[in-house]
Amino acid sequence: MIDLLKNSGLEPEQLEYTEIVGQCANDLLTIINDILDLSQIEAGRLSLAEEEFQLRESLNSVVKLLRVRADQKGLQITWEVSPNLPDRVCGDGLRFRQIFTNLLGNAIKFTLSGVIHVNVAECKDSAHFCCKVIDSGIGVEDTVSERIFEAFFQADGTHRRRFGGTGLGLTISRQLVGIMGGQIGMYNNKPGPGSTFWFQLPLGGLKDEKLALPETKC
Ligand SMILES: Nc1ncnc2c1ncn2[C@@H]1O[C@H](COP(=O)(O)OP(=O)(O)OP(=O)(O)O)[C@@H](O)[C@H]1O
Ligand SMILES: [Mg+2]
Repeated sequence: MIDLLKNSGLEPEQLEYTEIVGQCANDLLTIINDILDLSQIEAGRLSLAEEEFQLRESLNSVVKLLRVRADQKGLQITWEVSPNLPDRVCGDGLRFRQIFTNLLGNAIKFTLSGVIHVNVAECKDSAHFCCKVIDSGIGVEDTVSERIFEAFFQADGTHRRRFGGTGLGLTISRQLVGIMGGQIGMYNNKPGPGSTFWFQLPLGGLKDEKLALPETKC
């Protein structure tokens, strides 16, 4: 309805107000979805799909979507996927994109200038792949580098006001990665500014069979 309204020949000022209403509705939807995800995970009711998904295409779709936000801030996004990795991976493609969106979204949000680089490569064990999001942003104090994965925790009391958000993205990402049999973490870049957030997932399947759908394609 908001989109229809925007295209109904509004005056510039009315259009601006309508865009703000649209943005607020989207922000609210994100918060509701995050809270629902967390409740579902905590209730042990999250079902993950076990399907084949296109790794490069999935990464590309997220980068394409978030590039708009990066462009608005004058940030450059570069990304590379190791040629050793297969195109098709087995797991839950939607949840993979959700985790990657959270990390890349954070990198854009907490970087004021510079470059964000995404690197996806095979792990040494050949059974997992690792996705790294390297930013040149504000970084995270060592004292809170573990706490930022807790629900509603933000590294600094001013972050909500300065950058927005509720402090749920990393909590949900950590829970999802755990259920999928992977790991997630972060470290501050040294030398140089910013931080690197990474997660590892199995290339071939899900760890917890109970949480996967009974009918699987791979
Ligand atoms: N790339 C980053 N650089 C610096 N600080 C970060 C980065 N990513 C996360 N943080 C810190 O970790 C906190 C928690 O991140 P998380 O994604 O859970 O919440 P959020 O981004 O604040 O809100 P939400 O994801 O719910 O919209 C952030 O508020 C911020 O303080
Ligand atoms: Mg976030």
